[in-house]
Amino acid sequence: MTELLFRPMVPGDLPEVAGIEGDTFSTPWRETTFRSLLERPGVEMWIAEHPPGIVAAYAVLWCIHDEGELANLAVRPTLQRRGIGAELLDCVLGVAQERGVKSVYLEVRTSNEAAQTLYASREFQQVGVRRNYYDRPKEDAWIFVKRLV
Ligand SMILES: CC(C)(COP(=O)(O)OP(=O)(O)OC[C@H]1O[C@@H](n2cnc3c(N)ncnc32)[C@H](O)[C@@H]1OP(=O)(O)O)[C@@H](O)C(=O)NCCC(=O)NCCS
Repeated sequence: MTELLFRPMVPGDLPEVAGIEGDTFSTPWRETTFRSLLERPGVEMWIAEHPPGIVAAYAVLWCIHDEGELANLAVRPTLQRRGIGAELLDCVLGVAQERGVKSVYLEVRTSNEAAQTLYASREFQQVGVRRNYYDRPKEDAWIFVKRLV
C-alpha cells in the first residue's frame, strides 16, 4: 500500500467519517458523538488518508492510565482488504504505547471474522465474552486484549 498517511482526526473529517460509519455499522455512532470525543482528553482519534485528502479509515482509542480501549476501527468499504486496517491498527498501537498504555482491550462481534482475524494477526488474545453486547442483530461480543511490551 503506497501513499497511506496517518494523522489525528480533525473536525473537518467528521462528515466523511460519519459517512463511512453509517455505511459500515448497523448501530453507527453519530457525527455529534465523534465531535464530542474530539474534545475529550485521553481520546486518540486517528485517520488514514488514501489517496491523499480522502479519509480511507479511522480509529478511536481511549486511554485511561495504563489501559487502552480500541472503541472503533473502520475502513471505507471500497478500500477494504488492502492492508489499510492493519496499518492503522499498528499506528494506534504505537500511539497507545507512547501514552504509557500497557494493555489494549476491544470488543468484537462473534460473527465478525474479518476483524477477529486482523486482531489475531496482531497478537490480540480472546479473554472473555460480553453476552448480548450488540444490537441489530443482538449478538455477544468477544473481549480481546493485547499486552504491549
Ligand atoms: C475489520 C477491518 C477494519 C479490516 O480492515 P482491512 O483494511 O479490510 O483489513 P486488512 O486489509 O488490513 O487485512 C489485514 C488482515 O486481516 C484479515 N482480514 C481482513 N479482512 C478479512 C476478511 N474479510 N476475511 C478474512 N480475513 C480478513 C486478514 O488476515 C488480513 O491479512 P491478509 O489480507 O494478508 O490475509 C475492515 O474489514 C472493516 O472496516 N470492517 C467493518 C468495520 C469493523 O468490523 N470494524 C471492527 C469492529 S471490532
